[in-house]
Amino acid sequence: MFEEAQYFAPTATRDDGTVEVELAASHPGFADPVYRARRNAIAALAVNHVPGSPIPTAEYTEQEHEVWALVSQALAAKHRTYATAEYVEATGRLGLPAERIPQLQEVSDLLEPLTGFRYLPAAGLVPLRDFYGVLADGFFHSTQYIRHHSTPLYTPEPDVIHEVIGHANALASDRYSQLYRLAGGAARRVESKEALEFISKIFWFTLEFGVMTDQGELRAYGAGILSSYGEIEEFRGMDIRPLDLAAMGTTHYDITKYQDVLFRADSLEHLEDVVGGFWATCDDEIIAKMAAEAH
Ligand code: TRP
Ligand code: FE
Repeated sequence: MFEEAQYFAPTATRDDGTVEVELAASHPGFADPVYRARRNAIAALAVNHVPGSPIPTAEYTEQEHEVWALVSQALAAKHRTYATAEYVEATGRLGLPAERIPQLQEVSDLLEPLTGFRYLPAAGLVPLRDFYGVLADGFFHSTQYIRHHSTPLYTPEPDVIHEVIGHANALASDRYSQLYRLAGGAARRVESKEALEFISKIFWFTLEFGVMTDQGELRAYGAGILSSYGEIEEFRGMDIRPLDLAAMGTTHYDITKYQDVLFRADSLEHLEDVVGGFWATCDDEIIAKMAAEAH
């Protein structure tokens, strides 16, 4: 079982096409029937989406828009201090709304002319092979629900704030989006489950939780840091290790906590050379050798 998989609430589809999202008892929305009904309704949009047709519109409530406005404003201020210049610049190019949740179709339409990336709706967990594989074609699977209003600055699972503020802004950069595509190509190329997991862990420690030296200080480019108001304040104090493919591909992480081990690139060029170069060329044999040497 891949670690990331546990993060998403499982969904079950009933015979009538309605969808039931299971939330853990510890989830902030667990005891809120209104939130649970929203989660089921929004998951059903993705489950019933026909590939190739426009992404269904989620009719968000005022309260949901307010959560977006609050978090989006708080994060924008943090990004000026903690995000890389490349990310901040891409944010300016994409131009997401600050006051309301954008529809995924709208995000997709903003993104496509910039880097060719398009969004696809996901009800919950997408199998790793599909999630990563379609990155090679410029598709990004995204959840559509928003976190519970009682915990705007923290969420135990990826939501539309993470997918859009974290990932779409990065995907608006030519250089970051190229790295996403290369990760997808690598995931398609390998056959073994172990090699796929190795690639997904490198994705985790770079495009999800990566940091780099930028403007002379440590800044984040990973979507998981950049969408998390709590984590963004903490990452500079974590155990920061040098960029190392074998280490990233084999280091264990706990998705239920702030990431306490992070890998630092010296620069964007360094990230492109090491990680982009690896994804562009890796295969099962190369990965098996790297993993064996790391142990
Ligand atoms: N904690 C992140 C946030 O607040 C969201 C998140 C939860 C996440 N689990 C994740 C992001 C796993 C990336 C990977 O935005
Ligand atoms: Fe993510």
